[in-house]
Amino acid sequence: MLPSLPRHFTRTLSSLPPSSSDTQPFVSPQIDPTFRYGDVLVVNDSNGERRLFGPLKKGIYRDNNLGRLRHDDLVGQKPLSIVQSNTGAKYTLHWPTLDEYSTKVKRQASIMYPKDTTSAVHLLDLFPGAHVLEAGTGNGSMTMYIQRAIMAPGSHLDTVDIRDAHSMQAEKNIEQFWRGMYRPGITFWRSSGGLQRVIKRLKGTDQTPEFAVSLIKGIDPTHPDGRPLTDLELRRKKLELVHEDLPKNPHPEGHQYDAISLDLPDTKSVILDLLPLLKADRPMVLYMVNMSQVLELVQWMRLNCHGCTVENVLEVGWKEWSVRSAAVRSKVKGRVHVGGFGAVSVLKPATATTGTDGQDNGSELTAASDNIPDDAVGWICRPLHVPVGHTGFLVQLRKNYI
Ligand SMILES: C[S@@+](CC[C@H](N)C(=O)[O-])C[C@H]1O[C@@H](n2cnc3c(N)ncnc32)[C@H](O)[C@@H]1O
Repeated sequence: MLPSLPRHFTRTLSSLPPSSSDTQPFVSPQIDPTFRYGDVLVVNDSNGERRLFGPLKKGIYRDNNLGRLRHDDLVGQKPLSIVQSNTGAKYTLHWPTLDEYSTKVKRQASIMYPKDTTSAVHLLDLFPGAHVLEAGTGNGSMTMYIQRAIMAPGSHLDTVDIRDAHSMQAEKNIEQFWRGMYRPGITFWRSSGGLQRVIKRLKGTDQTPEFAVSLIKGIDPTHPDGRPLTDLELRRKKLELVHEDLPKNPHPEGHQYDAISLDLPDTKSVILDLLPLLKADRPMVLYMVNMSQVLELVQWMRLNCHGCTVENVLEVGWKEWSVRSAAVRSKVKGRVHVGGFGAVSVLKPATATTGTDGQDNGSELTAASDNIPDDAVGWICRPLHVPVGHTGFLVQLRKNYI
């Protein structure tokens, strides 16, 4: 599946031979960053717009408002190389950072933004080699941040989602980031019974006939749009639930996690079942989208959950600042043209160069910071007041019994 691109970035395919990435031996981009088939990279245009591009495939091209870029032309290039579209528009090439990859890649579910994922990694107290349980996987954004913190020999991440499409998209996203660097050591659990069902597999208690009966009892006999299921559909749904093929539990009996991370619509129904799977004195972090959810959880915990304490409730906000040079009008007067705080152009001599069509050929235009005389440079430092990612709350719990 291709990463999401702005709408004007239409995809046009010629006849496509299969990607040759499958046939190439794995080489980490840290060792050889030269772009090859299968890689997803960032193309940065002259306006500074950075877009995810790829995975690179033989014979493919992509058209946008700045012309056509052929995948084959990007293969063999190194980061910071400059390539041109068929109309001469220039692009620099980059490996995506995790921040831009997780926020720009194709989405099936809403994501936790980097400000929250990085803070959650901090609250989860992760370390290389840790074992972590995560639910729901969603788009895999948090999954990648967890992996980045724990990945080492012996580390393991179990990530659970109730929706196959979300989990499969997340797996694909992770496989396509930096040649699948963060893929090893993750088990993707896809279960229509959700985390509740996987907990039973992890505890080794899911094979009992009572469990099968309880699943069938709780079955919803309607379609998502409210229409009742036919007898045949109902029978098929029951069979799917009971015979659902889950991976084997990869852990020995009695295994416990170093940390648990949850981004689910309902956490109250799973906390008590999860606590035995968490090591004593270790954290569980819940991402919640509004304060009513947090309050409801804490009120519920007071009455029902004495196995853990609330350590922290955080709302994380990043305030971006603009820090840049500008021309001080009074000092540049008569020396350069000043168009507000944007680009500044040197005053043209009488023989200013123009193209044959009479248009300014732009050769004398430079960025403001380049051509303002040193004694006329001023500095702008101001907060942008643009929210960075949607808001949410991180609730850190700690298991307080052995
Ligand atoms: C908001 S998304 C998670 C986004 C993810 N944290 C990320 O950063 O990409 C919530 C996910 O929880 C899944 N989900 C909902 N109920 C679940 C349950 N009972 N067990 C497992 N997953 C569940 C949904 O299918 C959805 O993919």
